[in-house]
Amino acid sequence: VTTALKRFKIKDVVNGEAVSQNGWIQGWVQSIRKHKNFMFVDIVDGTSLNPLQVVLPSHMFNSQLQNGAAVSANGTFVETDLNVNKIEMVCEEIQVVGPCDPETYPFLKHTPHDMQHLRSYPHLRMRRTSMINAFKLRNQLEMLFHEFFQNEGFTHVHTPIITLSDCEGAGELFSIKSDTSTNTDMENSENHFFNKPAYLTVSGQMHLEACAMSLGSVYTLSPVFRAEHGISRKHLSEFRMLEVEVAFTQDLHEILDLIEDSIKFCIERVQSVPLKKFDDGYKDIPPQHHKAVKNATCSNYVRIPYSEALEILQKNSHKLTTAAPVWGDDFNTDQESFLVKHFGLTPVFIINFPKVAKPFYMYANNDNNTVAAVDLIFPFCGEICGGSLREHRLELLQDSLRTSGLNEKDYEWYLDLRRFGSAPHGGYGLGFDRLVHFLLGTRNIKDAVPFPRTPHSCPL
Ligand code: 4AD
Ligand code: MG
Repeated sequence: VTTALKRFKIKDVVNGEAVSQNGWIQGWVQSIRKHKNFMFVDIVDGTSLNPLQVVLPSHMFNSQLQNGAAVSANGTFVETDLNVNKIEMVCEEIQVVGPCDPETYPFLKHTPHDMQHLRSYPHLRMRRTSMINAFKLRNQLEMLFHEFFQNEGFTHVHTPIITLSDCEGAGELFSIKSDTSTNTDMENSENHFFNKPAYLTVSGQMHLEACAMSLGSVYTLSPVFRAEHGISRKHLSEFRMLEVEVAFTQDLHEILDLIEDSIKFCIERVQSVPLKKFDDGYKDIPPQHHKAVKNATCSNYVRIPYSEALEILQKNSHKLTTAAPVWGDDFNTDQESFLVKHFGLTPVFIINFPKVAKPFYMYANNDNNTVAAVDLIFPFCGEICGGSLREHRLELLQDSLRTSGLNEKDYEWYLDLRRFGSAPHGGYGLGFDRLVHFLLGTRNIKDAVPFPRTPHSCPL
């Protein structure tokens, strides 16, 4: 391939930058269609969701030119009405850089694969359009969240992965230990970090609260880890959480507004190419997915207190597959999905939960029975955000630790935040992978995540 020519990225070619020029591109063959005198080779290079169609006369056929092969091609970029990009390459030369044996390559050319089949090749499945789409969506969403919070004057902070605190107090911690710690280390250093049980964080919230008490408005988008044993379509052992914390807020609705505005800002702006009939996973997309995404983008999200949600569920108990909840219960997947359907597939904020259903750090409402908590429920993927005003009053927080059976000594530093310049504050965590899962319409959250980890699977 004549590398003296200008090299183009496929993104620039499909944007029309290369019309009538000679140049070359590099990428991977996504599909090949053979006709009598020509063959059409679709090539992707990761810069664009749409492949570039390269047209070759049949005599240029080369037995190594197969689906999945890495190639370089040069030719002329010309306008055409025959494909979505309105531009294609008339190829003069094509070279296979890295062949791909069709006998052993796990993905057939034009057949849409089952997502489960793709999951058995976690290191290769990102070659498929459906997965490229997922990666691109994640990339855009992350950038958009940064844009939103930076515009609002928030500071992005890095919260730790290794921690000694169980933020949620739910005991779903992965404990970690150093392979290099020796007995001598253990004996000599009382307070040595390797000498204490340490964990992978379940949430950066408490560290974020410490930062909010100086920086005011902060956020992080970090990996968190949960050693939950149950498996479901929406649970991962490792996932990313967007966590947000705001000082001097005393109104839970300010937190709800922030959640709703930031989600809408992002999903209005993401561009993803809808999967087509012949793409992997297309048949899994729920029929009302389009409506649900539209509601999440344009409708006012429903806001109801826990007591009202409970009443709706109790009145409709005959339509639930599980027993109706009673006061104090957290809602299960079936009940959450009933609620969003009840409100026409619009996202639902549930606020003011019973104190017994929520972690120790939430702000106690005046009724002494509920806390200023919020869960946001989305269609198809369930709880997407959880948050609250935080208990900023020292004595009440100490009481709450005690009644939750937690050891005050383990939370001394957290109590210090209330001893020195405590300010009312609140925040939330958004399940980043759940949002991607929702937007893509995949049946399983594993298909929205590059390398999913679940209780029974961590293949590489
Ligand atoms: O409701 P959670 O547990 O809230 C917290 O951890 C708070 N400390 C966050 C905060 O206020 N800063 O988790 C927040 C969100 C959930 O609403 C859900 O979307 C997601 O994280 N999530 C999971 N996503 C995938 N797999 C799991 N196992 C998840 N557990 C929670
Ligand atoms: Mg929650």
